[in-house]
Amino acid sequence: MSLEGKRVVVLGGTSGIGLAAAKAFVKESSHVIIASRSSEKLTKAKAEIGSDVEGYEIDFRSEEGAKNFFSKVGEFDHLVVTAGEGAMGHFSELPVAAVREAFDSKFWGQYITVKSALPYLNNKSSITLTSGVYGLRPPRGASTLAAINSAVDGLVRGLSVDLAPIRVNVVSPGIVDTPIYSGMPAEQRNKMYNSMSQQLPVGRVAQPEDIAATYVYLAKNGFTTGTTVLIDGGAHLI
Ligand SMILES: NC(=O)c1ccc[n+]([C@@H]2O[C@H](COP(=O)([O-])OP(=O)(O)OC[C@H]3O[C@@H](n4cnc5c(N)ncnc54)[C@H](OP(=O)(O)O)[C@@H]3O)[C@@H](O)[C@H]2O)c1
Repeated sequence: MSLEGKRVVVLGGTSGIGLAAAKAFVKESSHVIIASRSSEKLTKAKAEIGSDVEGYEIDFRSEEGAKNFFSKVGEFDHLVVTAGEGAMGHFSELPVAAVREAFDSKFWGQYITVKSALPYLNNKSSITLTSGVYGLRPPRGASTLAAINSAVDGLVRGLSVDLAPIRVNVVSPGIVDTPIYSGMPAEQRNKMYNSMSQQLPVGRVAQPEDIAATYVYLAKNGFTTGTTVLIDGGAHLI
């Protein structure tokens, strides 16, 4: 299925995996609409993507904000959601408020986005959400992300039945070198990447482009729905 001329919304398309996905869809000659909260990130991402891209400010946790955003976008073909903030911390230490906040973002944000986008999609559309390998194989301190990612994977299986013939899938990445880790001191971050690279069967952590290709594949492949695509360099095996 060609993506040429298709209108593709990438919510979270201003950074990391979403930015790489937006670029990958532009390479397929799609018209890409990116969205996130920060106007600064939007301006930078639009300049970096270069051509055929629109950008909107939106906080996907707000139903009103999401409805308003999609009414401005109008009809489109494919929805990709990479926005989402999780929370790490041992079960006995992480406050319930922090866990709720993470659910509000990564689970409810994606849920609200799909609900608000529906009136603007068509029978040939696809929706691709984002979870993560911690849903399947959580290390210590990842019980919140294990729950959120599993919930997103489950939601996608349900939606693929409820929303058919619209196809609904989810990309579940392992560790990816993105600005999500920019809060960590560089030395600590590099140590983590090196340690992961030594453990992973593929011998390296992912670059955003490795993951971005999967969103393009899922938008293109008309026979794939209800699927979680695990793209984790073998992290679920270690
Ligand atoms: N990187 C990894 O190792 C990894 C591993 C497994 C799963 N994942 C998942 O992959 C997804 C993307 O991660 P990433 O590494 O690409 O992160 P990232 O570089 O931090 O990008 C996240 C994007 O989401 C947007 N965003 C966050 N909260 C938002 C909100 N409330 N409303 C609208 N936009 C929002 C951010 O822009 P604004 O700040 O402008 O809103 C940004 O564009 C996340 O769900 C993450 O949990 C990542």
